[in-house]
Order: sequence, then structure tokens, then C-alpha cells
Amino acid sequence: MASPKTLEIVKSTVPVLEEHGTAITTVFYKNMFNEHPELLDIFNETNQKLGRQQTALATTVLAAAKHLDKLATLLPQVTQISHKHRALQILPEHYPIVGHHLIGAIKEVLGEAANDDIIGAWTEAYDEIASVFIQIEHGMYEAEMWQGFAPFTITEKYEAATDIAAFTVVPAEGSTVDLSKLNLTAGQYITVKTDPKDSSHTALRHYSLYSASTEKGIQFAVRRDNRNEHNGLVSNHLHNNLTVGDTISLSAPAGDFLLNQDLVQQNDIPLVLMSAGVGVTPILAMLEAQVTANPKRPITWVYACQNEQHHAFNEQVDKLLEKAENVEKHIFYFDEGQILDEAWLANLPKPADIYVCGSMMFMDSMIDGLMALDHGVDSVHYEPFGPKMSLELKAG
Ligand SMILES: Cc1cc2nc3c(=O)[nH]c(=O)nc-3n(C[C@H](O)[C@H](O)[C@H](O)COP(=O)(O)OP(=O)(O)OC[C@H]3O[C@@H](n4cnc5c(N)ncnc54)[C@H](O)[C@@H]3O)c2cc1C
Ligand code: HEM
Repeated sequence: MASPKTLEIVKSTVPVLEEHGTAITTVFYKNMFNEHPELLDIFNETNQKLGRQQTALATTVLAAAKHLDKLATLLPQVTQISHKHRALQILPEHYPIVGHHLIGAIKEVLGEAANDDIIGAWTEAYDEIASVFIQIEHGMYEAEMWQGFAPFTITEKYEAATDIAAFTVVPAEGSTVDLSKLNLTAGQYITVKTDPKDSSHTALRHYSLYSASTEKGIQFAVRRDNRNEHNGLVSNHLHNNLTVGDTISLSAPAGDFLLNQDLVQQNDIPLVLMSAGVGVTPILAMLEAQVTANPKRPITWVYACQNEQHHAFNEQVDKLLEKAENVEKHIFYFDEGQILDEAWLANLPKPADIYVCGSMMFMDSMIDGLMALDHGVDSVHYEPFGPKMSLELKAG
């Protein structure tokens, strides 16, 4: 527990550090990667190049420091980040490296203003925050379905829609992973480790399971992510260079975007499943889990994409919806002017338990709309295919 003096110094210096947040983050990453180039194999190279998500780590340390005397209240947020850390295989020995360079960056940016008391207090604060992460991640490592990155063989690859490739993988020969013993949950994601030709580092990316069944193997789908004429590193590698028979490394499933199990067997609170584009993956797994566990529960399926060619897993969805007894299905094709906007959300049942997945823009708009309609934060669950922080304050 931090001393009252530390608490006072940390809280009073947060604003000035926030003011210099970008400078501190830039110096932090530059110095850390200079001294530890091996970490470039863990951090997302594209995010670094674009300066995207760079602030997530440092901003969260500052946000946590504000709550240093009551860190327990941040456990839900820490747990969500820790799922990603565990999936990326961030280890306890990484924390002192980050701490050393974060405190070093504070010193460098603040210059003389950073006296020994300030640096001492921030070192203590970081250590305390880091120990909460390490403890939560320790529990996650103990429970992980397999350790580290394990080799899997691709047994199926097909186009689930234009630019969306669906993969099935099984443990590679000689692997200690036993498919029949895996207990996957709808909404979870796996993390792939790849060596794209266009990069000098290994690259890690998360992909949601589109089914929690292990009958055929582990199943995920990847959209070719090409924006602004720049090709996404890993998605293009998976589309262009990997095929049936090839080996790919995966870390064990992670994530806390899961169906509220208390409601799965109840029929008075409908399930609303909303997705756009490749955001359908975890939502499809949830649909399968719900109709398998209780087909009587009312389900509203809402899906938006560019056009029929981009409509992913249409047949699988229809087959599952046929099993449900009380279904509404709404499809929106942007190319045909069918816009799923905030106003349309008034058509949804209320109360309802709502799960949303799609691009950041899609979710931003859907969550705003759902909040404006007074769907409570406990009823709106979402999984951004990027950092969760920007949406954090809107819903639970
Ligand atoms: C929990 C979670 C679950 C996910 N589940 C899925 C899933 O089921 N399916 C799925 O397809 N994805 C999923 N994602 C997203 C996935 O992890 C990757 O982020 C995605 O595949 C893009 O990775 P990439 O390496 O191809 O692109 P990156 O190289 O990381 O690039 C990302 C984007 O930046 C653009 N870009 C690259 N360089 C530049 C530049 N110089 N200037 C401007 N733009 C640039 C690229 O075109 C691309 O659009 C998930 C993400 C999370 C966090
Ligand atoms: C107390 C210390 C730390 C805090 C507060 C923290 C916070 C965060 C946050 C908020 C994210 C974004 C989560 C999201 O995507 O929703 C993140 C992602 C990540 N963190 Fe941490 N982190 C800490 C320590 C570390 C350490 C020690 C490492 C490894 C050296 C690390 C590596 C990563 C990586 C690789 C990502 C994914 C983002 C990317 O690749 O660009 N973190 N962290």
C-alpha cells in the first residue's frame, strides 16, 4: 500500500503528466525498443508506425495512478487488459522493463521539474499497479488451456464472403494440445503468431472464434484488412501465404466478451445479436451457443455489411436461426442504401441483453444509440477489434 506522501505526490502530478502524455509515450517507446528490440516481436508494428494505440499503456498507468488508494475498483478494466496481455504472452519479467522506461521517459520529458520525490513516488506507484496486473495474469496463466504459442495445422480454408477467409486448425502432429479436452467459450478469441514476409519481426494478432465447437478444430475467420491503400500485415499474410497443410502458432483462447449465462436459460429477456462485417465472428459463436443451450429464448439478429457478396456466414446463420423458436432477422446492405443507424435501434426489444461487434465506427454509433435509448450499461456488451479504451466509458 502506497504511503500518504506517495499518494499525494502522484495525484498532484497526474495532470502535468497527462499534459505531456504524447511526449512521454513517444520517448518511452523509442528508448524501450532501442534497448529491447526483442519487444518489437510482441508489440503491433503497424500501431507503432502509425502512432496508434501508443498511448493506451501510458494513459492507463496514469488513470490507474489516480485510483492508487483503491486499485481494487479497477479490477474489471485490469482484467480485460490482462486477457489481452495473457493472450500476447506478456510475462512478469516484462513489467520492470516497461516501468524502467516509463519512469525514464517521465524524467526525460519533465526535466528538472521531476525531482527525486516525484520519481520515487511514481516508481512506487508503477510497481503497485504492475503487481496488480501480474497477479491477475498469474491466475490467467495457471488456467490457460495450453501454454505459450502451440503449433496448429490448417485443415480447412474457405471464403466465407468476399475478403473474409475462414480457417479451421487442429493441433499439429506431436503437439501436447488435446482438442477433445479444450473447453472453448463463444465470444473468445485466439491469438496467432506469424512471420509475415513484409516484416522483420514476428507479428501477433487476435481473431475471434466463430464457433465454440471443437468437433472440426478451432475455427476463426480473417478479413483482409486493406485501408487507405495500405495492406494489413497479418491478415494479408494469412490470406495470401497460408493454406491447408501449413502450420500456424496460436496462444490459448482469451477474452471476457461472453454471453451472460444467467440469462441463457431464461426466455423473458430477449437476446439481441448485432454485428457488421467480420464482426459477425464472435456473434455467430454466441448464436450457436444460445440455440444449442436454449432454442426457446427470443433472438433478434441484426447484421450490416456492404452487399450480398460481403455477407459473411449467411447460410450458417440461417441454419442456426431455424433452430430457434422465436426469431427476428434484420440485414442491412450499405450499397443498397440500407443504413443501420441510431434511429433504427428503437425497433429493438427492451429490456434485452445486447451483444455488439464491428468496426470502431459501427460500435461507437451503436453504443451511443443504445445508451440514448436507456439500455443499461449492464445490458450492452461489445468487443472492438482494436483497443477497448475509447469506448470504455459508454457501456459495460
Ligand atoms: C479481440 C479482437 C478480436 C478480433 N477478431 C477478429 C476477427 O475475428 N476477424 C478479423 O478479421 N479481425 C479480428 N480482429 C482484428 C485483428 O486482430 C487485426 O487487427 C486485423 O486482422 C488487422 O491486422 P493486420 O495485421 O492485417 O493489419 P495491420 O498491419 O495491423 O494494419 C491495421 C490497419 O491499418 C492500415 N494501415 C497499415 N499501414 C498503414 C499506413 N501506413 N497508413 C494508413 N493505414 C495503414 C491497414 O490497411 C489496416 O487496415 C480482432 C481484434 C481484436 C482486438
Ligand atoms: C502496468 C503496466 C501496463 C499497463 C497499465 C498496460 C496497459 C495496456 C492497455 C490499456 C492496452 C490496450 C488494451 C486493449 O487493446 O484493449 C495494452 C496492450 C498491450 N500491452 Fe500493456 N500494459 C502494461 C504493461 C505491459 C507490459 C509489461 C508489456 C510488455 C512489455 C505490455 C504489452 C502490451 C502489448 C503488446 C499490447 C497490445 C498493443 C500493441 O501491440 O500495440 N504491456 N496494455
